[in-house]
Amino acid sequence: MKTVFITGGAGFIGSALVRLLIAEGNWRIVNIDKLTYAGNLESLASVSDSPRYCFVHADICGRATMDVLFSEHQPVGIIHLAAESHVDRSIHGPEDFVQTNITGTYTLLEVARGYWSGLSGEAKSQFRFHHVSTDEVYGSLGETGLFTEATPYQPNSPYSASKAASDHLVRAWHHTYGFPVVTTNCSNNYGPCQFPEKLIPLMIHNAVSGKPLPIYGKGDNIRDWLYVDDHARALRLVFEKGTLGDVYNIGGHNEKTNLEVVDTLCALLDELCPRADGLHYSALKTYVADRPGHDKRYAIDASKIGRDLGWKPQETFETGLKKTVQWYLDNPKWVARVVSGEYKTWTDKNYGSRV
Ligand code: NAD
Ligand code: DAU
Repeated sequence: MKTVFITGGAGFIGSALVRLLIAEGNWRIVNIDKLTYAGNLESLASVSDSPRYCFVHADICGRATMDVLFSEHQPVGIIHLAAESHVDRSIHGPEDFVQTNITGTYTLLEVARGYWSGLSGEAKSQFRFHHVSTDEVYGSLGETGLFTEATPYQPNSPYSASKAASDHLVRAWHHTYGFPVVTTNCSNNYGPCQFPEKLIPLMIHNAVSGKPLPIYGKGDNIRDWLYVDDHARALRLVFEKGTLGDVYNIGGHNEKTNLEVVDTLCALLDELCPRADGLHYSALKTYVADRPGHDKRYAIDASKIGRDLGWKPQETFETGLKKTVQWYLDNPKWVARVVSGEYKTWTDKNYGSRV
C-alpha cells in the first residue's frame, strides 16, 4: 500500500483531508504534526483506529527527524499543510510564523528533495510535493476583479508574507532542481473542527455563550468562503492529477462581507437554537477596533481547477454554513474542551510533552 505524508493533519483543514483520504482513498496516511495550540487529535477520533492511519508527533523544522521519517516510511508524496495560520496571532507574534511557515517549508523541501534524488524509476517519476497555501499571498482587491494564478504577489500581513515566502521557495525548488511540486492557493475555509479563534467558529461559540460578537471595523471587509470538505476534495484532486510546477487557485465564489456572515449566522442560530430569553442573537453584535493592515477584499477565480481537473464545490454557502452551525451545536464537548484547554491534556497524556 502506498504511503502519503500529510503535515498539519491535526489542524482544521488537515484533519478534514485525513478523514476524507481514510474514508475514500486507498493510501496509508502518515500525519506529521507538532500539536501546537491549533493541533487537536480529537478531530481525528473517527480515523485513529484505522490500520491505514499513523500519527507522528514531530516538528517539521526538525531536519534529522524528517530525514528518518522519509527513509522509514518511503512516501509516494507529501501534502504539506502544517503552518501557523491565524492572521491576528501573526500581528502580535510573527516569530513562529517565520519559523514554521518559512524554515519549516524549507526544511521539508530539502529533506524531500534528498529522498526524491535517491529514488529511481516509477517511484521517482511519481513522487510529488504538494504545498498548501492561501489567497492572502495576492494581497487585497479593490471593488472589482478576482485573484488568478497570474496575480502578482503582494502579501500584507506577517502571516501572508510568511506563506508567500514559502510559495516562492517551493517554486524555486521546482525551477532550479526540477523538484516535482504543485501549489494550491485557497480562499477562507469554514466547517467543523475549526479552532474558535477564526471568524465563523468564534462567532458561533460567543453567540451560544451569550458573549459579544466582535466585528472588526465596519464589518465591510469581504472574504470568499469555501466549505472545508470541498477544499479537501480539491486537494486530493490536485495531488493526484495536478500538473507538476503548476499553481491552482481554489475558491467557492461566495463573496460575503463579514457583517453578512455574522447576520446569517445569527439568523441560523435563531432558527436552530432560539435563545431562552426570546432575544435575537444579532443583539450581541459589537463593533471593535479594526485589525491593523486589514485586507479589504479577497475573491478567487477558480476556473483553472474547474477547467483542467473538473473540480467544483458541492456546498453552497447556505448549505455549508447550516451544516457548520449544526455541527458546533451537536458537538459542544469538542469546543468546550478546546476553550478549557482539556484537549491538550489528552494529547500530552497520549503523546508526551510538546516537541
Ligand atoms: P490550523 O492552524 O488549523 O492547523 C495547522 C496545523 O499545523 C496544526 O495541527 C498544528 O499543530 C500544525 N503545525 C503548526 N506548526 C507545526 C510545525 N512546526 N510542525 C508540525 N506541525 C505544525 O490551520 P488550517 O486552517 O487547517 O490551515 C492549514 C493550511 O492551509 C495552512 O498552511 C494554511 O496556511 C492553509 N490555508 C488555510 C485556510 C483557512 O481558511 N484556514 C485557507 C487557505 C489556506
Ligand atoms: O483567505 C485565506 C485565509 O483565511 C487563510 O490563509 C488563513 O489561514 C485564515 O485564517 C483566513 O484568514 P482571515 O484573516 O481572512 O480569517 P479570520 O477568520 O481571522 O477573519 C475573517 C474576517 O473576519 C477578517 O476580515 C477579519 C474578520 N474578523 C475576524 C475575527 C476573528 C472579525 O471581524 N472579528 C473577529 O473576531
